Amino acid sequence: MALREIRIEGDPILKKVCKPVAEVNDRIRELVKDMLETMYDANGVGLAAPQIGILKRIFVIDVSEEGNEPRVFINPEIVKTWGTQTGDEGCLSIPGKTATVTRPSNVIVRAYDEEMKQFELEGEGLLARAILHENDHLNGRLYIEIADGPIRDLSAPRNE
Ligand code: NI
Repeated sequence: MALREIRIEGDPILKKVCKPVAEVNDRIRELVKDMLETMYDANGVGLAAPQIGILKRIFVIDVSEEGNEPRVFINPEIVKTWGTQTGDEGCLSIPGKTATVTRPSNVIVRAYDEEMKQFELEGEGLLARAILHENDHLNGRLYIEIADGPIRDLSAPRNE
């Protein structure tokens, strides 16, 4: 396993649309392991492949407090969304920044795991937010493009 370099906003690769994974082989499994390791090392709750320069439709998420519930999504498809939630969001590719983003509060996603087994997952709250945020990365979209208000410094006091 290895830590990969996280691409930062301004890198054109973050604006590209990713390609589906044709086959889940050992190389893809190695990539997924590296993505999880890189995400945990950066204290993130999610990481998408383009953030480490790989234009494939893969993201990983762990929204648990202990950081022991890794979830892997290969070729994810958003099946359904409903409800709304408004809250602050951040991104490992936009360090030190945050902004308020309104998104659906619930999502059903269908994807493949590292064994190329298809699964369906319903997420709500933070998990739904993370799934939709990471899925946007696969389509070259960053949260700052859909933010409700200004992009703020994480250290700055919040304007209510
Ligand atoms: Ni992000």
